[in-house]
Amino acid sequence: MTQATERPGAEAPKVKGHHNPSDAKAKPWPVEFMSTAVGKKWIMAISGIALMGFVFAHMFGNLKIYLGPTDYNDYAHSLRTLLHPIFPNGFLLWLMRLGLIAMFLIHIGSAISLTRMNQTSRPVKYQSQRRYLAADFAARTMRWTGWIVFFYLIYHLADLTWGWANPDFVYGDAYGNVVASFERWYIALFYIVANLLLGIHLYHGGWSIFQSLGVNSPRYNGIRRGFAVTFAVIVTIANVSFPLAVQFGIVS
Ligand code: HEM
Repeated sequence: MTQATERPGAEAPKVKGHHNPSDAKAKPWPVEFMSTAVGKKWIMAISGIALMGFVFAHMFGNLKIYLGPTDYNDYAHSLRTLLHPIFPNGFLLWLMRLGLIAMFLIHIGSAISLTRMNQTSRPVKYQSQRRYLAADFAARTMRWTGWIVFFYLIYHLADLTWGWANPDFVYGDAYGNVVASFERWYIALFYIVANLLLGIHLYHGGWSIFQSLGVNSPRYNGIRRGFAVTFAVIVTIANVSFPLAVQFGIVS
């Protein structure tokens, strides 16, 4: 018997590869599942699907900019008054915002956690013989496209929701705010680049969802590729079109 186990309350030393008594304390299965790589991948995929749903709905709503200021501002206003008067103004919008924030945090959290897990399971990097046979460009860039989209989002909120980054911001005039923002060429360029990177992220995300949820038979590769490409291309073309439309005077 070792000294450590003789002291009252002291834990028995862990022996690698052996059954340890402290491991026997079963955690509730969702906690157990979330601590495995498969669980984290599921969480990342499900939060990713929710975020893709938001990105698509937001892009679709923004298309109203082509109908003019009245339609676009009415649409922005209607988001605040959804379910009114059953609930107070802004209630559903805040509910959706909270859901969205939760999805962002869960998505980023599981990505960080998975990266750490991969790093600890392979402490020695094999830099020199790093080969990218299976991983394509989109897959390799997931981490940094993800962070850039995150910082873009913070700027985007400061620009069009809070107005701090937009000198001509007028509360309630979403159309005017978008035009004022995208009239500055460097901001238009920034939005275009950020949305192209989002497109790359969405493409690989759309492809990975199936893998993470266990649908990885090569039989479905065509459908997976088709879905990922279609989704990413539609969202990217529409999102990039907004700053371009303002720059070319189509929306003014
Ligand atoms: C060029 C494309 C985009 C345009 C023109 C645009 C436009 C807007 C506008 C006008 C608002 C403010 C709405 C209001 O307060 O009434 C807004 C809010 C927001 N946008 Fe975008 N957006 C674009 C792309 C994106 C993308 C790609 C994302 C996500 C990655 C995103 C996420 C958000 C979020 C989270 C809000 C805050 C919603 C809220 O809480 O009210 N947007 N956007």
